[in-house]
Amino acid sequence: MDAAKAVMPRPSGSVDHLARLARDDMAGVDAIIRARMQSPVSVIPALADHLIDAGGKRLRPLLAVAAARLAGGEGDAGLKLAAAVEFIHTATLLHDDVVDSSRLRRGKVAAHLIWGAPSSVLVGDFLFARAFELIVETGALRAMEILARASRVITEGEVLQLTRAHDLNLSQQTYLDIISAKTAELFAASAEAGAVAAGASLDACAALRAYGQNLGLAFQLADDALDYGGVTETLGKNAGDDFREGKATLPLLLAIARTGPREVAFWERAIGRQEQTEADFRRARELIIGAGALEATLDLASDYADSAKEALSLFPANDWRLGLESLADFAVSRRA
Ligand code: IPE
Ligand code: IPE
Ligand code: MG
Ligand code: MG
Repeated sequence: MDAAKAVMPRPSGSVDHLARLARDDMAGVDAIIRARMQSPVSVIPALADHLIDAGGKRLRPLLAVAAARLAGGEGDAGLKLAAAVEFIHTATLLHDDVVDSSRLRRGKVAAHLIWGAPSSVLVGDFLFARAFELIVETGALRAMEILARASRVITEGEVLQLTRAHDLNLSQQTYLDIISAKTAELFAASAEAGAVAAGASLDACAALRAYGQNLGLAFQLADDALDYGGVTETLGKNAGDDFREGKATLPLLLAIARTGPREVAFWERAIGRQEQTEADFRRARELIIGAGALEATLDLASDYADSAKEALSLFPANDWRLGLESLADFAVSRRA
């Protein structure tokens, strides 16, 4: 081995390594978030801080800054867009917890249970508006287009899901359309907006968008598996929420198909008519696990994670690329 190679750091591919690489960028993003969640109307920063202070994984802004760096971006051009992306995500969480009647978020009591649903929804609107103020400041009309579209598509996904709850016959394609809209679109938009901020070529922007889209599908499939296979304390949100809300996610749809006529009365009662007892979630979880539906869901998540990694093949195999590849694996293997 020659001397130069011996001292050069080897490209390394763990999520921790990616977080270390992006540490300064993410500190910059955090400062923008803190500054821009302020308002003279005191309930707004109080409610926003309840959620923002709890942290969260900050995956979407990490994706935006890593995409910008992988695409050769220098300077701080991507930071405002990354903060905007986290504001959009936080807004959707505030709205989603009202829609889903969820009681726990990021290990804390959901904001709507403290301040009420009207304040939660309105602070969500504030965060959406803040996001768009930030995007306008960047002057990047293309980024505006990408994130405006994402905000519209997320809402379409959430409304479509709402109208298809309790539907035992939901097709897998419609399920994939729902998760593509409500979750993968923002991952795709985050990566693409980062690339745009870096002034990347059309090919590089499209590749990073494809990466984000596949990563987002893997992420939501794993999330839907964790709702049955995960632990509330680690998740920071209540396991079993999807079942209690009668959401037709892939683990449930596969279990319904695989348990056949034997369990149809149970599924029709608990999901179709939403007549549930406390013991029903445990029974559903046993049936889902017994049917191999969690493994099958995670297998599909792994396929999307592989597609995400393949989308990066046109980039040099540097630390940023390896970090993003490891993020795809993390999306599937995570417990939180
Ligand atoms: C929660 O997203 C909403 C889903 C798409 C499942 P995250 O799991 O990324 O939430 P935080 O930001 O880390 O809390
Ligand atoms: C995730 O919704 C997508 C959005 C929040 C827009 P879910 O309802 O599936 O996610 P959790 O389980 O509440 O985080
Ligand atoms: Mg929810
Ligand atoms: Mg929801």
